[in-house]
Amino acid sequence: MLNKRVNQSKPEELPEKIPTHIAIIMDGNGRWAISRGLPRLAGHRAGTENLRRVIEACIEFGIKYLTIYAFSTENWGRPPAEVHGLMRILEDVIDRELQELHDQGVQLHHIGRLDRLSKNLRKKVIHAVEFTKRNTRLVLNVAFNYGGRDEIVVAIQRMIADGMKAEQVTDELVSQYLFTAGVPDPDLIIRTSGELRGSNFLIWQGAYSEWYFTPTFWPDFDREELLRALREYAHRDRRYGGLMPLQEDTATHAG
Ligand code: IPE
Ligand code: IPE
Ligand code: MG
Repeated sequence: MLNKRVNQSKPEELPEKIPTHIAIIMDGNGRWAISRGLPRLAGHRAGTENLRRVIEACIEFGIKYLTIYAFSTENWGRPPAEVHGLMRILEDVIDRELQELHDQGVQLHHIGRLDRLSKNLRKKVIHAVEFTKRNTRLVLNVAFNYGGRDEIVVAIQRMIADGMKAEQVTDELVSQYLFTAGVPDPDLIIRTSGELRGSNFLIWQGAYSEWYFTPTFWPDFDREELLRALREYAHRDRRYGGLMPLQEDTATHAG
């Protein structure tokens, strides 16, 4: 059954050209909380509330793939109480939201390593992926204990373990060995909170992604902000190192 809040018709304010795959670095939860005199974990909780709204907006806008950066391989370096709190939040979100996500047609994937998570959390993640695997409305990749470099290291280890020969290693083969195998590369990567860096997110897959940065902290990044990002994306020229058709004309005639 579909969530009633999700509108089926394409909203009028939506641009013609929309990305197939959006990836988001959900940053700024801590600063959002501190600016309100709240503990950082309150910011992470507010961030998960916001995630629900953004997922609904993505479904409404017809986005097919959404990848969210929830916990990086470097985030283990934070104080133990925060790390523990983030693990608890993921667990709570699965407990609370899994049925609703399933009802909305969301297919959950995990990207990253499960090995450092508690046995209980690992079981919950595996169950959530299995439970939603036949859904087709939106693929939601949750990057949790994810690092772009780690992903490439794991891919190389697996290729070697599979006995791949040097000449078999191609761009396509590497893509197939990444956690995102089968998922098209992100068209648009959004980072909230004003930081202008990639922080080890989708470093292979993002080779030709368009980037969108906003100073808004993640808990405040709402449907309207997402629309703004989509409108800007619609105006970008994606050249992939080539030329736009008009430029090609000029090049030919000049020669
Ligand atoms: C992003 O918010 C969430 C995670 C990294 C888990 P932060 O916790 O990085 O918030 P800031 O950047 O400190 O404000
Ligand atoms: C990136 O944010 C990771 C997530 C949003 C999960 P960080 O806050 O960890 O990144 P840096 O430290 O500012 O680069
Ligand atoms: Mg941060």
